Amino acid sequence: MCGIVGYLGQKNTKEILLEGLKELEYRGYDSAGIAVLSDGEFSSFKAVGKLVNLEEKTKDFVTDAFAAGIGHTRWATHGKPTELNAHPHVGASSYVVHNGIIENYAPLKKELQNEGVTFLSQTDTEVIVHQFEKNQKKSTNSFEAFKKTISELEGAYAILLVTKSEDDTIFFAKNGSPMLMGINAENEKYFASSDTPLIGQCSDVNYFEDGDYGYVNADEIVIFDKMGNKKEPHFTKLSTNKLSAQKDGYRFFMEKEIYEQSSVISDTLLGRLSEDAVVFDEIDTSLFDSINEIKLCACGTSYHSALCASYMFERHAKIKTSVEVASELRYREPVLTQDTLFVVISQSGETADTLETLKMAKAAGLKTLVICNVDNSSMVRMADASILTRAGVEKGVASTKAFATQVVVFWMLSLYVAKRNNSMQTQEIAEQISLLREIPKSVIVEDSMHERIKRLSKRYLHGHGFFFIGRDLFYPLALEGALKLKEISYLHAEGYPSGEMKHGPIALADPELFTIALLPKHLLYEKSRSNAEELSARDSTICAISPIEFDKADDFIKTKEHGHYMLEFFEMMVVVQLLSLEISIRLGNDVDMPRNLAKSVTVE
Ligand code: M6R
Repeated sequence: MCGIVGYLGQKNTKEILLEGLKELEYRGYDSAGIAVLSDGEFSSFKAVGKLVNLEEKTKDFVTDAFAAGIGHTRWATHGKPTELNAHPHVGASSYVVHNGIIENYAPLKKELQNEGVTFLSQTDTEVIVHQFEKNQKKSTNSFEAFKKTISELEGAYAILLVTKSEDDTIFFAKNGSPMLMGINAENEKYFASSDTPLIGQCSDVNYFEDGDYGYVNADEIVIFDKMGNKKEPHFTKLSTNKLSAQKDGYRFFMEKEIYEQSSVISDTLLGRLSEDAVVFDEIDTSLFDSINEIKLCACGTSYHSALCASYMFERHAKIKTSVEVASELRYREPVLTQDTLFVVISQSGETADTLETLKMAKAAGLKTLVICNVDNSSMVRMADASILTRAGVEKGVASTKAFATQVVVFWMLSLYVAKRNNSMQTQEIAEQISLLREIPKSVIVEDSMHERIKRLSKRYLHGHGFFFIGRDLFYPLALEGALKLKEISYLHAEGYPSGEMKHGPIALADPELFTIALLPKHLLYEKSRSNAEELSARDSTICAISPIEFDKADDFIKTKEHGHYMLEFFEMMVVVQLLSLEISIRLGNDVDMPRNLAKSVTVE
């Protein structure tokens, strides 16, 4: 997804912008560019593909004086990933970068074209710079023109704009897309669409609110709110703990993140478990007062963890729970009642569809909670309460450790609510807490297991599709396994409830249909096993994942003996993640940045 950086100061502007963009690479992008305004002169560079292409293009460009610079990584929405469509977009004497979507760009563009403006790109963004320059002609100063331009835009945006007539200034505006500004003791000003580019550069940051706009120069920081009232920046300290982008010897970030799961789950549990109770200091039990239903809403992998949560909330806390795909909930005019706790789940906290459902729920007067991995993200700032998953920065586009920690948080939360609702005996809760403490061990990747999966993976590089099948909680795990595989291998994969196969999908069974059967010992083993046998009888190639030998399988991945199905769940989660990883590596794909995908989907 698009990323923005900006810099105003004396240092090496080019390097600062490029380094900042590198920190945003994990979000996914298909082109990048920078524009630097120094002493009334612009220099601008763009390149399709990875940042090394942009670095190559800028290698002879030197920035050693005061400058205003803006940079962008683009994930194509309007128009193909070409150099012309890459940001920054240029007018006669200004450049702009933008995240989000300008919904009314078509009528604005038409009007500008009728007035003789030539457009170079197919993007919605380009209207901003031309509209600004049109307004500049009628305004007494550039800020007035910028302010008027913002008032004419509809949609979501984070915008940085620089113009020749005020070559010491960066104009900014934020509405619906994330942006923050950082400062330091050297009077430099930084902008970015997330914290990471600013860590190590800035001491303090201001997170802009929706509707904020203004400008910065060497002497001033001027911010207005959506009502047009001047406001003071609200600076908070920025973490100095820059998480290493190093892969620590792993081939891909995704691999590193799979291996990290044991330690991040320990972090997720830290300080939240007593002998017989779950403790969430960040929420108040009154959050659940008058609540008779929980509605969970998310996208992608987070949606799968929400499905897991629904099993646990109903089983442990005996509370009615429903799960919604965010992009569907938004437009289907749902009945939202005040006795419902609305819970959004998001690794990034910025996913546009999920964020919008959170706004909907708030507008309907519901209590809201977010389960999120990124502190200070839009969702965390918006929801009434938040629980952080503590997975650390997740760089692989294919989510792994974020999913693991989300499920852990939900397991804990189901026990927290169970205690509050007296739906479980104290002894039962204590037993579950002992199991929670065992998860970090259950997800440790053993060399022998990884080697076995590596070897097996070579048999799964073709075929006409994969079915991941499981029952109960292993059904959302099957969905997640299939999503992982398709994201990074580009092979067709589906997750199905095991018992549902005979209602249609089994018609596809033949030796080229690969079934990945999740067969936990402690949850509906016999039923799941006979569903796998049905597929085996129709000659589907079966890879069974189970602690119990399964003679009807073509391949067998033996998991450890655990005393409870939840521990089997976490071990099998690692197995399906590794299987996708190894298949993708064999196919020669870019595991961390798969085609067509973005880490954080901040457009609808
Ligand atoms: O940041 P979020 O959890 O809100 O993101 C939701 C999905 O876009 C995300 O889970 C996506 O499905 C991942 N690529 C899955 O690996």
